[in-house]
Amino acid sequence: MADIKISNLHKEFGVGDDKVVALENVNLEISGHVFVSIVGPSGCGKSTLLNILSGIETPTSGSLTITQAGAQAAPGYVFQAARLLPWRTVMDNLLFVQADKSSETRARCQKYLDMVQLGDKGDKFPGELSGGMQQRVGIARAFSIEPDVMFMDEPFSHLDAITARSLRRELHSMWAATKKTIVFVTHDVGEAVELSNRILVFAQGGILKDDINVELDFPRDPSDEAVAVAKANVLKKFEELDLLAT
Ligand SMILES: Nc1ncnc2c1ncn2[C@@H]1O[C@H](COP(=O)(O)OP(=O)(O)OP(=O)(O)O)[C@@H](O)[C@H]1O
Ligand SMILES: [Mg+2]
Repeated sequence: MADIKISNLHKEFGVGDDKVVALENVNLEISGHVFVSIVGPSGCGKSTLLNILSGIETPTSGSLTITQAGAQAAPGYVFQAARLLPWRTVMDNLLFVQADKSSETRARCQKYLDMVQLGDKGDKFPGELSGGMQQRVGIARAFSIEPDVMFMDEPFSHLDAITARSLRRELHSMWAATKKTIVFVTHDVGEAVELSNRILVFAQGGILKDDINVELDFPRDPSDEAVAVAKANVLKKFEELDLLAT
C-alpha cells in the first residue's frame, strides 16, 4: 500500500506553436489500499500522468512522491498490450523481471500464474496463447515483483467484452488479496465504476475536473441496479463537464 502525493504537477510536450499541455498543475493524494481509476477523453493526459507516476516520463514542473511506510515505494506497470518477450516461455517472461531466479522466486511466479488461471501454461510461448491469456501473463508478471503500487494503462481495452469481464474480476480479487494500491486508466466509465473506490475525471488540457468516491461493496456486478445507478451518475457528471462528445 502506497501513499502518492502530487503537487502542481505540470507536463508540456514540444515548444512554441507545437506546445501541448498534457497535464495542467495537478494536485492529488492517493493513499492506502484503494483502487483508483483515471477516466477522461482521448488526449486528456491519462497515460502521461501514469507514465510520470511510474517514472517513464519526467514532469515539466511540480513534485511527486510515492512512498510506502515512509520509504520510496516500488511501482509495477501493466501496459495496454502485454509486451511479452515472444522467444521466452511464459515462466521465463516472469523470471526475466525478477532480481533472482531462486526456487523461492520461481514459486512466487507460479503463485501469480495460478492467480490468473494460467498455472499450467508456464512452459508455453506467448505465441501459443490467446490475446486475453497474454494479457493475463502481463498482469501476473507485474504482480510477481510484488510492487507496492500498481499502475495500469487500459489493460483490457484490446480484449473482447467477455474476456475483459473475467479479467476484471480476477484483477479485483488480486487487489483484495494483495492489498496493493492500484491506479488504473480506462476510457470505460462502466469499468471504472465496477472496479474503483475512487474515480478521477480528467478533461482536455490535462485538467483534473472531478474526484468521485464510489461507495458500493465489492464485488460489483454491472447488471446490479446500484452499480448501474452509480455508472449513470458518473456519466451525468461527464455530461455536466461537457466531456461526452470528445
Ligand atoms: N511523447 C509525446 N510527445 C508529444 N506529445 C505527446 C507525447 N505524449 C503525449 N503527448 C500529447 O499529450 C497529450 C496527452 O496525451 P496522453 O497520451 O497522456 O493522453 P491519453 O489521455 O492517455 O489519451 P488516450 O485515451 O488516447 O490514450 C496529447 O495531446 C498527446 O498528443
Ligand atoms: Mg493513453
